Amino acid sequence: MNSHTRPRMILDCDPGVDDAIAIITAARWADLVGITTVAGNVSGAQTCANAMRLRTLLGLDIPIHRGADGPMAGDLEDASHVHGADGLAGVDLPEADGEPDSADAVEYLVETTRAEEGLHLVPIGPLTNIALALRADPGLAHRVASITLMGGGAGSGNVTAAAEFNIYVDPEAADIVFRSGGPVHMIGLNLTNQVRMGPDHATTCREMGTPVGDFATHLLDHLIDIHFQWEGSDTSAMHDPSAILTVTHPHLIRSEPRTVVVELDGTHTRGQTLVDERGPAAGEPSCRVGYGVDVDSAVDLIMTAIREA
Ligand code: RIB
Ligand code: CA
Repeated sequence: MNSHTRPRMILDCDPGVDDAIAIITAARWADLVGITTVAGNVSGAQTCANAMRLRTLLGLDIPIHRGADGPMAGDLEDASHVHGADGLAGVDLPEADGEPDSADAVEYLVETTRAEEGLHLVPIGPLTNIALALRADPGLAHRVASITLMGGGAGSGNVTAAAEFNIYVDPEAADIVFRSGGPVHMIGLNLTNQVRMGPDHATTCREMGTPVGDFATHLLDHLIDIHFQWEGSDTSAMHDPSAILTVTHPHLIRSEPRTVVVELDGTHTRGQTLVDERGPAAGEPSCRVGYGVDVDSAVDLIMTAIREA
């Protein structure tokens, strides 16, 4: 008897190496209702193709709906230098077969949350699709159990000193989401940088001797190499999987109510998620911000998901 309850979620993603590990994690620990894809780490066409490739690898029977091909304002600045030109570190994986279930992620998000209230919305890429859905139907903000997003953070960014990638790519979208009045839960870099996996985890995945274990080994080897080049670290942060586990295992996360605003105009700070830490002086909090995480348990759950995929 599996005592673990599996929260029902829609995953909005830009696979993306850590998105791929997040999808494996969600497939094991959540009731994954559907996936929407967005341009971010690589193009909108490629992130959708990658989600379909992962659906095949994992044998998932879920719909995939393609979304926005770029931010609400300006041009897409992708992260192919981190995730590889194909977005999955050049992994040897069969190409996507067929087409996505639709090219209208916004319609899927609006209609699915109308048909079933209480779903968790888990965006782990730029927030373009979520913002467009909220603009199409503001009531969406009050029909979902949470909007648990990987993005931003209470501190330094990773694209600039101020901005984290998912927010940096589409600050206008992030501003709409944070001002939506919905149950926003920000799982930002200040938390996700704590959840790290390294060479020992890659070795353990390789020793699993399974297609998903081999796939995860390739992704981890790539991420570790990138992080070593960047920061001399031999471990890599599990950004997107941390957002999944926040929903599936909330007891592992320590969050606080905070007011967060998104900077749109700052010369050096555009895309910053400014967290008001002033306490009562900050007024009514607008969201929750993740600060603490049980790292060992989180990593164990990610490894279990890979092993049992
Ligand atoms: O800053 C980390 C985020 O940017 C993750 O979602 C990663 O996939 C990239 O999209
Ligand atoms: Ca992502």
